[in-house]
Amino acid sequence: MASHSAQDFYDQLTEDYHLIYADWSKSVSRQGNALDALIRRHLGGAEPLDVLDCSCGIGTQAIGLAEHGHRIVGSDLSQAAAFRAAAEAQRRGVAAATLAADMRALPFADASFDVVLSADNALAHMLTEDDVRRAVDNMRRVVRDGGLLVLSAKDYGDARQARRQSTVPQVTDSDAGQVVTFQLWHWHDDGVYDFDHVQLLPDGDTWQVRVRRATSRAWALEELAELVRERGFGNVTWHGAEEGRFFQPVLTARPVVRPAHPTHIPSRQGHKLPNHRSPSR
Ligand SMILES: C[S@@+](CC[C@H](N)C(=O)[O-])C[C@H]1O[C@@H](n2cnc3c(N)ncnc32)[C@H](O)[C@@H]1O
Repeated sequence: MASHSAQDFYDQLTEDYHLIYADWSKSVSRQGNALDALIRRHLGGAEPLDVLDCSCGIGTQAIGLAEHGHRIVGSDLSQAAAFRAAAEAQRRGVAAATLAADMRALPFADASFDVVLSADNALAHMLTEDDVRRAVDNMRRVVRDGGLLVLSAKDYGDARQARRQSTVPQVTDSDAGQVVTFQLWHWHDDGVYDFDHVQLLPDGDTWQVRVRRATSRAWALEELAELVRERGFGNVTWHGAEEGRFFQPVLTARPVVRPAHPTHIPSRQGHKLPNHRSPSR
C-alpha cells in the first residue's frame, strides 16, 4: 500500500501545528526545562552545549533548549516547519539556526554536536528498520564521542495489536474559539498505519474541517532501543514520562567509541516502563 508523504503533511500542517497543543508557548518552556534537566543529568557541567534537533518541526524543543542557553541547530524534513521554527525563535528572542534536512542524510560534519535530539515520535515516520538504521547512523556520525542521543517516542502500548482506530480529541482555545484535533488510524498489516489528522476550526456557528494525511509505524519502544544499540550506542535507556518530566518516554544513549561499535552488539534487555499518568505535552 502506498504511504503518504511526511514532508507534504508537515508542510501543510505547519501554520496550524501549535493548535495541537493546549498552549504551545507554555509547552515550549515546559519541554525545554525537562530536556535540559535530562541532558545535564547525563552530561553534567553548566556550559552551553552544541545541540542538533534533527526533527525540530516548528521548534517546540529546539526553542525551549535555546532558552537554556544552548547553541541550537534545528533541521527538519519540512522546509515550512524549519522556516517557522526560525521565526518563532526570533519572536522569543533566542537564536536557533534552522534548515531543511532529512535525518537519514544529515548535512553536517562528523562529530559536530554534543547532543542529538529527535522528539515527539518523529521516528514513527521511519516506516522500515532500514529507515531507522539510516537515521540512527547519521545521528551517531554527527554526535561527538562523549555526547548524548535523546529520542522521544509515543508508547503505543497495545494500540497496534488492538488496531486502535482513533486518538482522544485535543481541545485548544485559540483567538478564534475552540479548535478540536484528533486522528483516525487505518492499519496496514505490518504495524504501519495511515492517519487522517482532523482539525475542526470555528467558523461562525459551524466548523471548518481540515484533514491532512500521513503514514506512521507504531514502533514498540524496545524495537527502537534495539536498533539504537545495534547502530553504535550504549547505555540505551528509556525514561518513563514521570521520571523525565517529559510528556512522552525519552530514550537516552551514549555513543560507543569507535572502533568498538561495529563488532560490539550488547544483548537484548527488556526495559519495562512503569505505569503512570503522563505529564501534559
Ligand atoms: C510530530 S512532529 C514533531 C516536531 C517537533 N519535534 C515538535 O515536537 O514540535 C514530527 C516531525 O518530524 C519531521 N520528520 C519526519 N520525517 C523526517 C525525516 N526523515 N527527517 C527529518 N525530519 C522528519 C516532520 O517534518 C515533523 O516536523
